[in-house]
Order: sequence, then structure tokens, then C-alpha cells
Amino acid sequence: MSSKKDKKKRKSDAKPAETAHMPSREFSTKARIPSMKAYRKLYKESIDSPSKFWAREAGELSWQKKWKKVLDWKAPDAKWFVGGKLNVCENCVDRHADGPRANKAAIIWEGEPGDKQVITYAQLKREVSRVANVLEKKGVKSGDRVLIYMPMIPEAAYAMLACARIGAVHNVVFGGFASDAIVDRLEDSGATTVITADGGWRRGKVVALKPVVDEALKKYKKVERVIVAKRTGNDVTMKKDRDSWLHDDLKDVSALHSPKGFDSEHPLFLLYTSGSTGKPKGILHTSGGYLTGTYTTCKYIFDMRDEDVYWCTADIGWITGHSYIIYGPLANGATQVMYEGAPNFPDFSRFWQICEDHGVTIFYTAPTAIRAFIKAGDDLVKKHDLSKLRLLGSVGEPINPEAWNWYHKVIGGGRCPIVDTWWQTETGAIMISPMPGATPCKPGTATLPFFGVDAAILDEQGKECKANEDGRLVIRKPWPSMIRSIYGDKKRFKKTYWMDYKGMYTAGDGARRDRDGNFWIIGRLDDVLNVSGHRLGTAEIESALVAHPAVAEAAVIGRPHELKGQAVACFVILKGKHRESEQLRQELRNHVGKIIGAIAKPDDLHFAPGLPKTRSGKIMRRLLKELVNTGKVTGNVTTLEDPTIIAKLAKIIAK
Ligand code: WTA
Repeated sequence: MSSKKDKKKRKSDAKPAETAHMPSREFSTKARIPSMKAYRKLYKESIDSPSKFWAREAGELSWQKKWKKVLDWKAPDAKWFVGGKLNVCENCVDRHADGPRANKAAIIWEGEPGDKQVITYAQLKREVSRVANVLEKKGVKSGDRVLIYMPMIPEAAYAMLACARIGAVHNVVFGGFASDAIVDRLEDSGATTVITADGGWRRGKVVALKPVVDEALKKYKKVERVIVAKRTGNDVTMKKDRDSWLHDDLKDVSALHSPKGFDSEHPLFLLYTSGSTGKPKGILHTSGGYLTGTYTTCKYIFDMRDEDVYWCTADIGWITGHSYIIYGPLANGATQVMYEGAPNFPDFSRFWQICEDHGVTIFYTAPTAIRAFIKAGDDLVKKHDLSKLRLLGSVGEPINPEAWNWYHKVIGGGRCPIVDTWWQTETGAIMISPMPGATPCKPGTATLPFFGVDAAILDEQGKECKANEDGRLVIRKPWPSMIRSIYGDKKRFKKTYWMDYKGMYTAGDGARRDRDGNFWIIGRLDDVLNVSGHRLGTAEIESALVAHPAVAEAAVIGRPHELKGQAVACFVILKGKHRESEQLRQELRNHVGKIIGAIAKPDDLHFAPGLPKTRSGKIMRRLLKELVNTGKVTGNVTTLEDPTIIAKLAKIIAK
């Protein structure tokens, strides 16, 4: 940034005083949004006349029946493109397969062992249609819930798209989750169909998936069919009349399937995410609005073009995989890379090898991965040709300036803009992000709201915070890809997101704006941790711990971690006859891994004689956090049930 005005503005910022990076002229002139003037003009229209703005965007998709009204809004209930009918899968697949993109690569897939597959849009249409026919033949109907538990293989994309095609509601469960997590999701969603695989490859080893499903189905008996894709060839048992191999099922079906139109508000998927209670919530997304949101954000924020090779490194088990591997990029007719395995297999140069081999131009990853690459050293990057890259993205947690600068310099060669994208499972699509060809970017800020997003920072009284003042991030107007409900629990939906300020969505994040209006996200205000960009509820981990026979009580907090962003720290009180031991510590860590999944395994596990509680019995996690992070507690502790506990815990932590 070089103008005098901008320099003056920067000086007036109390914090943080980072230099802003401007996109190159070369990038800007070709970009859809080439200047801040263009951004502001369109942003103004999107806020002043949202119906006009969103009708134009949605109009670029194909509708089997046009909507009558763009929005029906009675907070917190939104209906977008009311009366319209569309098939989401047709928009992502047939629309391209039946036109000039027929032989364009939709997915360039690479397995961890190095096997490769290129799937064109025409092939994608055939594969997805065949899976849709299999599902219908087996009796899966529109509105049925289908649980998908798969590795990052093309069949996972086919499965999701096939569900969308027949109007079934997919619920993808991250392949790293344990069998209890599957049971919870099956119970809550009432799914009767499971699509899985024998296993997937991760760091050179087979991660078995079907056996985990089998374990879950011992507890949940209502699943009528399990369809299994063959990937790794590990031994699996198939239950007669319930389980079938996908490749066998596919033999008997045709590759023709006509996509029926569904109501714009027809449920598209459920995705479970952590909140402040022990039970993950099923975030419900619907069709027309969600597709419009993911399509539009991809188009402007990734400035996606036919000649691009886009790669989002997320897993389909997370919202990023839903919105920015499946629906957004495919709705745009993009060519994208999909990779099965770990970033460090066989070593930390794998991602850069993939970028080089496939000529990746747009690369979207998480800060935790970037920090791991920094640690692995620049040499692993430098031996690869990354000159095709033109745009980088970041998602999942605040990106620290050190990681931003390294990403910009070492990966982006100093020439690629970085879009730091803030959003949530609930928002469905990116909400705050730079426009890559326009926005001045300071490392660490997601910058400005996307079109149609009326974001603000409020204090506890509901007053808008002044520049650089910390407050709560809210969205004041509805947007197309917004959460419609928590599945089966409208009350919890209202209570969680809509009670703090009338008619406004509370994101649960703390944030501030600088004088240029940039949003700086500080982190979660609730009891949700962000470990390696993944959301974990402290209550979930606590309830897993107390489910162990040795544990009487547990408290879980987050502490800063160099690579993961946050690490899981817990305090455990043992039941009477149980004694502390290293063995028990490991057992408890593994127990959490077994119940929730390896990502939730506590990093620190302290055996404690008690917890800091108020006289009414509430655990003061805030004090534990302070203690773990600073080694002491500064505030008044006399209101605690047992004020001496702080000193005892401090000793334990210091050990
Ligand atoms: C955090 C992931 C800072 C935030 C898409 C949010 C971020 C939570 C960013 C949602 C970002 C996500 N900068 N923080 N660019 N992106 N977050 O539902 O705390 O897995 O509330 O969605 O991640 O996590 P979720």
C-alpha cells in the first residue's frame, strides 16, 4: 500500500501495526473484482438490495422451476428462493457434463500410495448417476438420511452427489472419528443407510473403516443397508442381506439417471459439529441458498476460472470439504485436485509435489498445516516448481502473521494474494475474506465481509464496538447459505445462535475491527476448542473422560500450541480406589481417542485433587485456563468453594 492516505490510516491504528499487502496489477486487472471501488459498489448493492443481488447470482445456476420470492425472513427462520425447484447435483455435474466442459477434468485424484485418476465431468455424471441408481434400487428415498464414512476417494464425492441427486440427506462423518461418534450421529439423524469403504490410506498404513462401522452397528440396529467401496483390500466381514460391495451393486445399474427438481428449501445435508454441550449438533443446510452461497463465494473469493487447477486440502468430513471441494468448485465447473492421504507422506514435500505435478493454481489450506510446513523447513518446498500458483487461501483458525508471511513468501513466491477466509459450519459459506484482486491484506485479518454479509462487532449491551475494541461477532442480516436449524432441535437452534441480540446471528467468536474496517478474529467465546482447525467441545471431551470407570470428574480447557493452534489440557479427579499412574494417564488419553477420535486425545492430562468451583458447584474453567497459560491466577479466588485448590493445582502443573 503506498498512497499517503493509506499510510496515515495505518499510523492511526493502535494495533496491530502490520504492513498491508496489495495484489499485483497483473492479478487485479484479470480479477472479477479488480478494485476496492468495485468491491464497495457491489457490497453496497448486496446490502441495500439483497434480493436483487442474490437473484442475479442464483440466476447463474440452473433451476427446474424459478423461485417466486428471493427471501422469506422471520428471524431466525429463513427461506431462500421460495417456490424454486432445482437439483443441486445437476448443477454441479450435468450442467457441465452436458455442455462444453464435458471432457474437462472435474477431479484429478491422487491416492496416498501414488495411484492417480482423472475424472472428467462426463465421467462424473456417469459415476454419480450409477451410484444414484444403486441407492434408489436399494430403496433409499428423498428425505432419507444417509451416513457417509469414507476416505478421500472419488467414491466419497460420488456418494455425496448421488444423495443430493435423489434428494437424500447426507451426513458425512470424518473418517478419523471413532465408532461412538457414528452411533451418536446415526441415533440423532435416524439414518438407515451407511456408505463406507473397507479402509483408506494414511501415512502408509491402512486405516480400517468398515470395522468401525460394524462396531457402531452393534449398538445402533436400525441401519438397513451398508454399501462398501473397496479401497485398501483389508479384511472385512460382510453381513448378509445388509452389506454389499459398491462395485458389485454398480454392475447391475445404468449410467442414466434423470435429476428431479427439489424444493429450494429441501434439506441437502446434516453435518455434526461441536458446541458447548456434550452432544454434537446436527447443522442442517438446505439446497438453493446453500448452493448459491458456495457457488458465489468460490467465484469471487477464489476468482475461479476454467483454466485454474484448484486444490482444497480439507477432508470431506468437515464443512470446508462440503462447500469447497464438492459443492462450490463443482458448481463453478472447476478442475480440482483431490488427495487421499497425509501431508507428510512420505515426507513434508508431498503437497508441493502434488502442486507441481498437477499445476495447481489456487491452493486452500489451514494455518495448522502451514505451521507444520514451516517446521519441516523451506528446503522441502524449494525443490518444487510452484510457479503456477496464483492464489492462496487459509481457513479454520486465525492465521498468525509468521505463518501468513511464510505462506506468502515461500509458497506464494511473494506474488500470490492470500485469502484468509472466516466462516463456520453454520454459515455454510465464507463470510469474511479479502477479494484477492482488490483488498489490501494485513497478515492475521480476514479483512472485510463478503457480499450480502452484514457483519458487526457488538458489546454486551448490543452497541457496536469502536475501532480496535474487542466484542462479539454477529451477522445482522440473513444470508443464503445460513444454517436452517439444528436437526430435530429448533429450541437449541434458537438458544445457541439467536438469543444474544434480537434478530441477529451470534457466531460465538470474539473479534475486533481496525480503523480500516478489517475484522480480526480473536477466537471462540464459548467452550469450544480449535485444535488444528477442528472444532472440539470441552464438554464432549469431559463426558468421554467421565465415561471411564476410574474418573469421577473432569475439566477440559485449551492452551496455546505451536503447531495445532490449541492443545487439549485436562484435569481429572479419580474415583476413590483408583491411583494415579502413567499407565492410567495413557489409558485415559486413549479412551478419549477411542470414544471421540484421535484428534480429541488430550495433550496434557493432570490428575487433580479437586477443581476450582464456585459455591454453587460450577467449575471455573477460566481460572484453569489462566493457571495453565500463565502459571498463576491473578483475580480474587475467595469466592471459590475451596480457595486453596489453586495453589495445589499450580504445583501439579509446574511438575
Ligand atoms: C474459526 C470452519 C479465524 C472460528 C470453516 C469459527 C477462523 C470456527 C477462521 C468455525 C479464520 C474459521 N480466522 N478463525 N479465517 N475460519 N475460524 O465450524 O473460531 O469447523 O467460529 O468451520 O473456526 O469452525 P468450523
